[in-house]
Amino acid sequence: MAVRRLAPAEVQPASFAFSAENLAWAQATIAKYPAGKQASAVIPLLWRAQEQHDGWVSEAAIRYLADMLGMQYIRVLEVATFYTMFQLAPVGKKAHVQVCGTTPCMLRGSDDLIKVCKSRIAPHAHELSADGNFSWEEVECLGACVNAPMVQIWSDCYEDLTPDTLNGVLDIFERGDKPSPGPQNGRHLSVPEGGAVTLTDPGLYDGSYRVNIVTDGSVTPKPAGE
Ligand code: FES
Repeated sequence: MAVRRLAPAEVQPASFAFSAENLAWAQATIAKYPAGKQASAVIPLLWRAQEQHDGWVSEAAIRYLADMLGMQYIRVLEVATFYTMFQLAPVGKKAHVQVCGTTPCMLRGSDDLIKVCKSRIAPHAHELSADGNFSWEEVECLGACVNAPMVQIWSDCYEDLTPDTLNGVLDIFERGDKPSPGPQNGRHLSVPEGGAVTLTDPGLYDGSYRVNIVTDGSVTPKPAGE
């Protein structure tokens, strides 16, 4: 994973403050933790700050949250720079595409998804597209390996992708709409493609299936009626 640094000073806003709605939400979130453990709220508060500020966390937001939580600035910076869920520089207005490049996704074609990002969005990760609407980066495993290859865009995952279906997802974002998250190949969640091939006997589910278990440990189906 690349070194993650704050965006240069010229793009940093002078200040950050939660909106009234987000401030009320932040105070309620902090109150969920025991006295003296307010720092535990740092991740949800960083996420809310990122959502409020066009999808990225500014230095001013890090200082603001550190003051709010009674933390050293460096401690909040450490959290923001550790997790790739936090963006530290401006991202595409319509979509920031995080492509998983870890082994299962790589074996299933993530390199081809990255080629789409390079040709369609920008040649290098974290660069904005010419219209400022898109950006992309490669990240480590996002926990959806069973549906590899996949990308995360904002809070949602788009899975079982090919270059064509990734382009289709980006087309929908381009129009200003939101694609349906999850597998893009028609399968439901992570059930086997083409349907189940094991444990298909209906008797397993209606209670009619019986087996003989003999002393050597072998298991054999028991004829119906026995
Ligand atoms: S390897 Fe890509 S989601 Fe786990």
